[in-house]
Amino acid sequence: MTTTSVHDAAVDQVWAMTTAHLHARALHVVADLGVADLIGDDPVPVSELAAACGVAHHSLGRVLRLLADLGVFRHGPAGVEHTAMSRLLRTDHAGSLRAFAQLMALDVVWHGVASLETAVRHGTTGIAEIAPNGLFDYLAEHPAQAQLFDNAMQAKARADVDAVIRAYDFSPFGTVADIGGGTGQLLNAILTRHRTVRGILFDLPHVIAQAGVDDAHLTTCAGDFFTDPLPAADLYLLMEVLHDWPDRGTTAILRGVRAACRTGAVVLVIESLPSDEHPDPRARTLDLLMLAVSGGQERSPSELDRLLTATGFRRTAVLDIAGPLRIAEAVAV
Ligand SMILES: C[S@@+](CC[C@H](N)C(=O)[O-])C[C@H]1O[C@@H](n2cnc3c(N)ncnc32)[C@H](O)[C@@H]1O
Repeated sequence: MTTTSVHDAAVDQVWAMTTAHLHARALHVVADLGVADLIGDDPVPVSELAAACGVAHHSLGRVLRLLADLGVFRHGPAGVEHTAMSRLLRTDHAGSLRAFAQLMALDVVWHGVASLETAVRHGTTGIAEIAPNGLFDYLAEHPAQAQLFDNAMQAKARADVDAVIRAYDFSPFGTVADIGGGTGQLLNAILTRHRTVRGILFDLPHVIAQAGVDDAHLTTCAGDFFTDPLPAADLYLLMEVLHDWPDRGTTAILRGVRAACRTGAVVLVIESLPSDEHPDPRARTLDLLMLAVSGGQERSPSELDRLLTATGFRRTAVLDIAGPLRIAEAVAV
């Protein structure tokens, strides 16, 4: 029989993994309260932070103490100071993760994660009980959570868009349609770089209502990609859209694109696209999030190929780009 010492590194690791939800919750709480925005270049006492947030001083202090042990904030003699990690929770940081932390803390997301076992046992999402019609119907009915979701998508896109537009030449295309394009981060960046391209942003009505449209080259189209016809275009963008859906939904979206486009039109599927040759723990984490919350999955290029082929497309390339995403290019055949 193998014996383990209490100092066994494996024990420490499993203990830390088993309690990692408390680390996550501590981050969620300070992100929601906006604690990082209250600290500038100088330290701030916990009592002042608690008063500004209107929360219990001792409780906030304990949360901040754990985070400081993990490298998020530092406790100095004069109060709480920033570290490189805590600065990422500031709203005004160029690579801010505050909105992402708030997204992970949304009731619907947390409920799904807490109900992962339901997803595993029954093959449904973890949110079926509170959101029987799925994540996006739930968000349409909960505007405050939808706003946080859109903020998080904008922040995520800010980090990823640059890598996409550097990696792909959009200049040959007359019209580019971003399907499930959110509030237009990617499309706006493409149109800013390529003044000959016209853009069509397609998303649900409550999302399109939040999109900033101040470019004559950009038109918006509010609709449901499962029930409404999609616009005609030369290039279609699907950035982190297909991974939200199980195969049936993904197939329906691709069929909608194929029905709208001419043979030879191009589709870019931009998501993590993990594979055995391209393992990515972040993609595996996202995959479980999709299982729990949306019913979707992160697909490998070969898993995606099966769905592309069934819907009238042929994959022509997979491009590695800077950052966590990859681009699968396919052509309508
Ligand atoms: C994960 S977000 C990705 C947003 C954007 N492409 C990006 O990467 O930042 C998925 C998007 O799909 C949109 N969406 C979900 N269901 C939809 C539907 N039935 N019809 C149109 N858009 C939908 C959501 O509103 C959301 O903007």
